[in-house]
Amino acid sequence: MSRDSFGSRFGALVAMAGSAVGLGNLWRFPYLVGENGGAAFIIVYVAMVFLICLPIFISEFVLGRRSQKNAYAAFRDLSGGSAWKWVGLLTVIVPLIVLSYYSVIGGWSIEYLLKSATFSFTGGAQQSAMSTMFTDFVTSTWGPLACHTFFLLATTLIVVVGIKDGIEKFSKVMMPLLFFMVMAIAFYSLTLPGADKGLDYLFNPDFSKIDGKSISSALGQAFFSLSLGFGTILTYASYVDKKEDILYQSSATAASDLMFALIAGVAIMPAVFAFGLDPQSGPGLVFETLPFVFSQMPAGGVIAILFFVSLLVAALTSSISMMEVAVAYLVEEKNFSRKAACVTLFAICWAVGALCALSFGPLADIKITGRSIFDLFDHLSSNILMTLGSLLTVLFVGWRLKKTDIYDEFTNGGTLSRNAKLFGLLWFLIRYVCPIAIISIFLSGLI
Ligand code: PHE
Repeated sequence: MSRDSFGSRFGALVAMAGSAVGLGNLWRFPYLVGENGGAAFIIVYVAMVFLICLPIFISEFVLGRRSQKNAYAAFRDLSGGSAWKWVGLLTVIVPLIVLSYYSVIGGWSIEYLLKSATFSFTGGAQQSAMSTMFTDFVTSTWGPLACHTFFLLATTLIVVVGIKDGIEKFSKVMMPLLFFMVMAIAFYSLTLPGADKGLDYLFNPDFSKIDGKSISSALGQAFFSLSLGFGTILTYASYVDKKEDILYQSSATAASDLMFALIAGVAIMPAVFAFGLDPQSGPGLVFETLPFVFSQMPAGGVIAILFFVSLLVAALTSSISMMEVAVAYLVEEKNFSRKAACVTLFAICWAVGALCALSFGPLADIKITGRSIFDLFDHLSSNILMTLGSLLTVLFVGWRLKKTDIYDEFTNGGTLSRNAKLFGLLWFLIRYVCPIAIISIFLSGLI
């Protein structure tokens, strides 16, 4: 049976952008900006995206497109069957851990969408009522479990259909829609009286807020947001046509991811400031502060629906990419049918995700190294495993594979002259800058 692939350049691009644009942009980025001093953090973040993450992105792209295999087989075959295959296996397993807890937050967005559709955020509610509503929901048992189940089921149903007809089609329809919805909210937010304070906060840098910790969170966020170190970009790239330009596709994905994060910032911060609220409210920003803002603003009910649909769509186009990594592995290495692979992964991620979903309520007392199950998974995967995965990927490409092979893949056999000219710079970044930067930033974040 021939391998499924993306049907068009646009399809491949929106699928990758779909993987990248997710809760990371709409949920994590705005609150990290809030916690780390606004514009100064954004500047550091942009530098991380283009200097460190783009070369890693290209490395993953090269691995996938060169091998045209799943992540495990890519590492195994390109290294001639050496122990590097275990790194490949790591990049197959990590997305499953992420998917399990990602699905919990994806589920919350379903609940909040239902709440907005039933106009729970209209009529000038109290701010404390919104916090209570959130706490009541996440600490309960059945609601979060049911929402997690629906979210994971939706993910599985898209993935089971395949690359061209499932993942690509879904992303092609949803990504443009997502763009228009987030833009509409941003424009609306800018019309609110007092919105300029939010813009000031986003775009007026205060560098005194920048230290080792914020630089390391900027890098961690950039990894997470670009789906790096998880085998996702590698797997998607393995379905991309040999004629496509890797540099173009990678930069376009990185740029759209950044653009979405900034638009999300513009959609959220001016509105938060317009109502005199504090942006530094951590993860509660989206599920506590924003619902309160929606309840205060004119036409807030409609904006709330738009916002939570966006959150859900963004989360789904990312979660499907996480599941695909392991589906490709099971189908190609373990001879599973696509359906059997999807059912198996649904079962595993459902069970692990259920523990995460309950770790705010019934299982809140279970603490491992001082963290709840949910926090532990988030911390382990996004801070440690993802950094490790990205580091090992650049080391593999820069130090283990042949330079001529990388050149060949990156320039489509020497036919892309722009890429040929830039290869020297890319190679330097991959071999030296990325590994040194990742290690030192990771260590400085620990201090
Ligand atoms: N990039 C996604 C986001 O920003 C998360 C993600 C991580 C997706 C890893 C795939 C793989 O939400």
